[in-house]
Amino acid sequence: MAYIQIPDDEKGYKLDLFCVPKHYEEDLDQVIIPHGLIMDRTERLARDIVRDMGGHHIVALCVLKGGYTFFADLLDYIKALNQNSDKSVPLTVDFIRLKSYCNDQSTNIVKVIGGDELSTLTGKNVLIVEDIVETGRTMETLLSLLSECNPKMVKVVSLLVKRTPRSSGYRPDYIGFEVPDLFLVGYALDYNEYFRDLSHICILNENAKEKYKV
Ligand code: IMP
Ligand code: MG
Repeated sequence: MAYIQIPDDEKGYKLDLFCVPKHYEEDLDQVIIPHGLIMDRTERLARDIVRDMGGHHIVALCVLKGGYTFFADLLDYIKALNQNSDKSVPLTVDFIRLKSYCNDQSTNIVKVIGGDELSTLTGKNVLIVEDIVETGRTMETLLSLLSECNPKMVKVVSLLVKRTPRSSGYRPDYIGFEVPDLFLVGYALDYNEYFRDLSHICILNENAKEKYKV
């Protein structure tokens, strides 16, 4: 499946070319994916997903918290397709919360917090919506949990996939962008809960890693 590849030497855009909240100006190196580009790519992902999964009731499963902005925008595009074509399928939503990160390090333990009974997914076409895949451990854990409730089909869409030697080799079915091995924030991607209130995807600088450390 095709995706946009952001090279390791990508210069990005200077912060002052875009609107960035004042309280984050000192914390970011550059804008690497502007909000508009995220939206344009998401619109196309919606079309690819409906083409492949649109034959049967879709349950969109949002992986919280990082996935929520992408989830909302992706679903808006899927809804637009549903209400403007001759064929359409019901779309329902569910939420699950997973946590594997402390500071800028992925931990080996993936914790599942909250969410509905996964058994409601039996026999459904499930679309898992994630913000970023790094090692792949979070997604592999979730997929193995899900397989126990026998969904009809499971597809994974991740806005971002990180190019990293720490990857387990896992690749989602749909990818928005492949990004360099840097810590990214914005568009709901966080660093210890900060930066979800930033529209563009940006590179976090070293000072900020110290400043917001827990
Ligand atoms: P994985 O289990 O290593 O694939 O990690 C996936 C999770 O780690 C994602 O769902 C994110 O919550 C988090 N994560 C990984 N890289 C980043 C990043 O660059 N910025 C913010 N969160 C990240
Ligand atoms: Mg996540």
